[in-house]
Amino acid sequence: MSFFNQPIQIGNLTLKNRVFLAPLAGVSDIPFRRICQELGAGLTYVEMLSATAIAYNNKRTFEMMARHASENVLGVQITGPTAAQVAHAISVLDKQGFETIDINMGCPVRKVVTAGCGSGILKDPERISETVKLARSATSRPLSAKFRLGYTRENINVVNTVERVLAENVDMFTIHGRTRSESYSTPCDLSGIKLAMHTALANSKPVIKVGNGDVFDLSSALKMQQETACDAIMVSRGALGNPWIFKEILSAKKVQPEFSEWLDVVFRHLDYQEEHFGKTKLAAILARKHLLWYSKGFPASKSLRDVLNRVEDLNDARALLKNYAANTPKDFIRYAGSNTDLSSDYDPKYEMDRKLDRGVGDEGMEQSV
Ligand SMILES: Cc1cc2nc3c(=O)[nH]c(=O)nc-3n(C[C@H](O)[C@H](O)[C@H](O)COP(=O)(O)O)c2cc1C
Repeated sequence: MSFFNQPIQIGNLTLKNRVFLAPLAGVSDIPFRRICQELGAGLTYVEMLSATAIAYNNKRTFEMMARHASENVLGVQITGPTAAQVAHAISVLDKQGFETIDINMGCPVRKVVTAGCGSGILKDPERISETVKLARSATSRPLSAKFRLGYTRENINVVNTVERVLAENVDMFTIHGRTRSESYSTPCDLSGIKLAMHTALANSKPVIKVGNGDVFDLSSALKMQQETACDAIMVSRGALGNPWIFKEILSAKKVQPEFSEWLDVVFRHLDYQEEHFGKTKLAAILARKHLLWYSKGFPASKSLRDVLNRVEDLNDARALLKNYAANTPKDFIRYAGSNTDLSSDYDPKYEMDRKLDRGVGDEGMEQSV
């Protein structure tokens, strides 16, 4: 059995494997989570929620807490401007029955940070301790924090952050190996993650250490594990348009689906989209970004993407895909004959429809009221 395909214990929760899907604002909704779960993800999360929005009983935020009947294990992530607000939100999320709760200390989006949320907290280490302490008293469920190496390269404080969250008894932490000021064009710093993970080895209570950043395939997953000694990995951009990444890492062998399997999964995603959002224009618009990500790596797919990017009806998307499929060999393997590197330094969150982008982006914090 591969390293990643072993069960793992987070507090009182046992997960079937060690490859998680990150909370992804505007992306990790029910349809996408179902697809990633079916392809193997050991843990998935609801999109990041705002503690302020929960305090105001924001309707949409409560809608985002929905889970599908098939989701036996589901995590949630919260961010807030004060320790008290985060703790209040966690007591609400605890009652909602989420199996594990994460505190976001890494979101870099300007509006989020200016409100004192996300990675804004990294500039205020005392608040990290206070937040985790109050959060811990608000739930007995597995509690975790996700953070970056520091606010800027000049202010790396990840070892101190790890010490603080451990002192307040988290069950798990995730480190994204970049600072708040670094973009995706800066490679994930595995040595920075390793240093911080090492700090946790001396901890009296077992704690799960999760590595995050630039995991795009089996080899980058193995690199993350071997170079940082993490216990599990969290996949983010690597799953966009490529949920097979879970299958690949878990089976420890390269997986690129044949065209017919690819098409089955994309159609299933559209069916889940319709089941969740209805036969609506919104369902089609929210599916666009996934369709664009899915259609990378196929011959002449640029013209397909141009039309998929304008669909207003899921049936139109299905028709366009069927038409494309009629001219593509069933056994065509994605990226065949071209650059097989699935990574890219473009930042997908800036390519999303900003009006509908829920949670990321400067207009995106409307859920925080
Ligand atoms: C579209 C998008 C949405 C994201 N939303 C969240 C979020 O809600 N919470 C979070 O902790 N990180 C979020 N992130 C950051 C990722 O979880 C991750 O830390 C980062 O992308 C680095 O991993 P990667 O290099 O594997 O993508 C988001 C990233 C993207 C691309």
